[in-house]
Amino acid sequence: MDLYEYQARDLFEKYEVPVLPGIIADTPEEAKAAAEKLGGVVVVKAQVKTGGRGKAGGVKVAKTPDEAYEAAKAILGLDIKGHVVKRVMIAGGARIAKEFYFSVLLDRANRSYLSLASVEGGMEIEQLAVEKPEALARIEVDPLAGIDEAKALEIAKAAGFDEELAPKVADVFVKLFQVYKGEDATLVEVNPLIQSEDGEIIALDGKVSLDENAEFRHAGHALLEDKAAADPLEAKAKENDLNYVKLDGQVGIIGNGAGLVMSTLDVVAYAGEKHGGVKPANFLDIGGGASAEVMAAGLDVILGDPQVKSVFVNVFGGITACDAVAKGIVGALAELGSSATKPLVVRIDGNRVEEGRRILQEANHPLVTLAATMDEGADKAAELANA
Ligand SMILES: Nc1ncnc2c1ncn2[C@@H]1O[C@H](COP(=O)(O)OP(=O)(O)OP(=O)(O)O)[C@@H](O)[C@H]1O
Ligand SMILES: [Mg+2]
Repeated sequence: MDLYEYQARDLFEKYEVPVLPGIIADTPEEAKAAAEKLGGVVVVKAQVKTGGRGKAGGVKVAKTPDEAYEAAKAILGLDIKGHVVKRVMIAGGARIAKEFYFSVLLDRANRSYLSLASVEGGMEIEQLAVEKPEALARIEVDPLAGIDEAKALEIAKAAGFDEELAPKVADVFVKLFQVYKGEDATLVEVNPLIQSEDGEIIALDGKVSLDENAEFRHAGHALLEDKAAADPLEAKAKENDLNYVKLDGQVGIIGNGAGLVMSTLDVVAYAGEKHGGVKPANFLDIGGGASAEVMAAGLDVILGDPQVKSVFVNVFGGITACDAVAKGIVGALAELGSSATKPLVVRIDGNRVEEGRRILQEANHPLVTLAATMDEGADKAAELANA
């Protein structure tokens, strides 16, 4: 889960990372009041989960509360790369002497953590990585050892900080790693980390991604979720503990086990090439216990997607045998009643497959087609989606 800048700022503050005061505002009036409260020069910043806000006109300096009002008026409603601004943060204005870059992130490929740092911050880091790769230090961080003072100094030196600045920024790197570790983050990025004109090191902009698998350890993280901005189908799937990812396609997919579902997506995409280019509409793993309720919840989510034209259920019976899965499908269709309107192709195999097929044949539901193999099922589902 990605956080908004103001949420990252709050987390930083909790871990004593130096930040400037920030107040959120949803209207120009609130922005004006916030600027009055902060006093002096402020910066009005769009709160959207995408980069390049400054360049898109989403970061404006305001010298007076009236200017903050005008800036918020201009920024609220702005479309930044498809994200419409609904909220701004009024931040204290910094007098910037230098801008740096720091991040720590999960490096999946190397099963480790990675820290990136540079004395050349401010500009987009992707651009720096391409144009001046030598200016961006990449230091592996041992997940068990983390970033202590010595490691932080190593990162600072590699990034090009001089003798005087290195210990100052290193102190902030250690605290930022504590945010990363303490909150089970997969990314903590500060761009820019600045040195102010009076010599202070301050995190001026923060990006934090939290590991949702660790949510059980952090009661507060659920509150950070922006329910209004989430995809309604994904939200519904989450409520039912389903592993669902919406894709851009027409064939709804239900399977058990991530590996089988992934290969089902491939097979459907391949079959779709022969049937008007239809594509899988989602990833949905119902997991091991494919009870009628889980199947109904899964079907309900998929059928709620207006783009879906057909559904392919591809289940390999293991601990949950095929007869239970078949009963689940029949039960789900009964439960959904007239709200189930799209054709369903079912391929089941594995434990107690004959019994499962018999249950589906006897139910003889008009929307259900049985397929003998995964390829045949994918082809049929793609054909029906294209009909
Ligand atoms: N509180 C502040 N005081 C003074 N200047 C600021 C402040 N916040 C941001 N700036 C200036 O605006 C620039 C852009 O701000 P920021 O990094 O927050 O947004 P961005 O980089 O455009 O957005 P993103 O990080 O989403 O790409 C900074 O590099 C900095 O020069
Ligand atoms: Mg930035």
